Amino acid sequence: MAQLWGGRFTKETDKLVYNFNASISFDQKFYRQDIEGSMAHVRMLARQGILTEEEMEAIVKTLQEILAEVEAGTLAITDEYEDIHSFVEANLIRRLGDTGKKLHTGRSRNDQVALDMKLYTRQEVLAADGLLKELLQVLLRIMEENTETIMPGFTHLQKAQPITLAHHMGAYFEMFKRDRLRLRDIYVRMNYCPLGSGALAGTTYPLDREYTAKLLGFYGPTLNSMDSVADRDYLIEFLAAMSTIMMHLSRFCEEIIIWNSNEYQFVEMDDAYSTGSSIMPQKKNPDIAELVRGKTGRVYGALMSLLTTMKGLPLAYNKDMQEDKELTFDAMDTVKGCLALFTGMLDTMRFNKDRMRRSANNGFTNATDAADYLVNHGVPFRDAHGIVGQIVLYCIEKNMAIDDMSLEELKAISPVFQEDVYEAISMETCVNKRLTIGAPGKEAMERVIDLEKEYLKEDWRKEAGVSADSEM
Ligand code: ARG
Repeated sequence: MAQLWGGRFTKETDKLVYNFNASISFDQKFYRQDIEGSMAHVRMLARQGILTEEEMEAIVKTLQEILAEVEAGTLAITDEYEDIHSFVEANLIRRLGDTGKKLHTGRSRNDQVALDMKLYTRQEVLAADGLLKELLQVLLRIMEENTETIMPGFTHLQKAQPITLAHHMGAYFEMFKRDRLRLRDIYVRMNYCPLGSGALAGTTYPLDREYTAKLLGFYGPTLNSMDSVADRDYLIEFLAAMSTIMMHLSRFCEEIIIWNSNEYQFVEMDDAYSTGSSIMPQKKNPDIAELVRGKTGRVYGALMSLLTTMKGLPLAYNKDMQEDKELTFDAMDTVKGCLALFTGMLDTMRFNKDRMRRSANNGFTNATDAADYLVNHGVPFRDAHGIVGQIVLYCIEKNMAIDDMSLEELKAISPVFQEDVYEAISMETCVNKRLTIGAPGKEAMERVIDLEKEYLKEDWRKEAGVSADSEM
């Protein structure tokens, strides 16, 4: 058992206690951030005259070696260390002796772990954002190709009015665009450096916190040392953003599962993204969509877990906060995996345009427009609503669409109908007359697509001062 704090103790830690306390099995995930943070710390210590230049150079060089060996797999991170901080420090001391022992001058594991987790999360914010952008690009492509692909729009899962596939995809475009905005906001809010806060009350060494903050790509240092080591707000915000992404993906998956069903057949998934049944040869199952939908729960779970962990904690650091890691890491990896798979699935999915079109035709989705036709010919709306209700009833009895009725049949219900009604209630007219911004009409949709294209050219990272290092 290699631990950093034996001096005050007279007994060895019980093995079970040691294991219960240890975090190396999961905090090794941010070994790189831990080492980068230490390098910035010693650079600052030397600049302030707290370490000599030679000591700093020896420590930085050795830390670089440790990093390279861990990355190459020649130095294994094992559970003989309590946590990743102990692992790095012990290896440094093993190689450098007394000079290595100076690394932790003016630092506590409390500000160290606060820094490591923040650096790791910051990188994950950017990774999730990048994956969302790829998804948006696929959505935009489908939108551009389908401004004339008519399909039924639903409310209550009942056919309501005709829309286009471009319009339906555009709804998800907006959702994932908001998800990116949320990530940007989180980045901007979280990007302050806790290093130099010590255990809770700063240190007596003349640290230059602005300098370490700058070296690590932060806007500046955090302004209260107790808050710095006790703050996990940015993780809660991040998990809330992750949960919202999963909620959006899950709704999308639900629709794809429905569209892929035998009854709908609006889409066909690529073989690479579907699976068969071990017993039923005819099956082609949408497992990926179902799994993404299913994994939403564990991401929500991480958010609930951390909120609950934090709710009763007095200032400043408490060991409870070690629980911020495992589920958060799981949530990050889950969301990244789901985004990447979902994007691939969507990109390769085939849309059965004929089925969509027929479904729109057969669902009385133009009933509102038939009523509007009557209104345009002087019938009060409430009466028009009643007349079209009768027409729908007639069609249901005869198993036909409104457009299939002859003019005589229509006139028998209301003499107002003329030959031009067919044009007025055609699916194309229904869709393309809806031209307010945000509506499915082709021209309106094309304006939106142009705006979305412009949006995709923007790069919030420049504005937010994201340095290449933050993507480590
Ligand atoms: N493994 C700990 C964590 O994740 C590191 C900080 C330990 N600090 C302490 N005072 N025990 O929170």
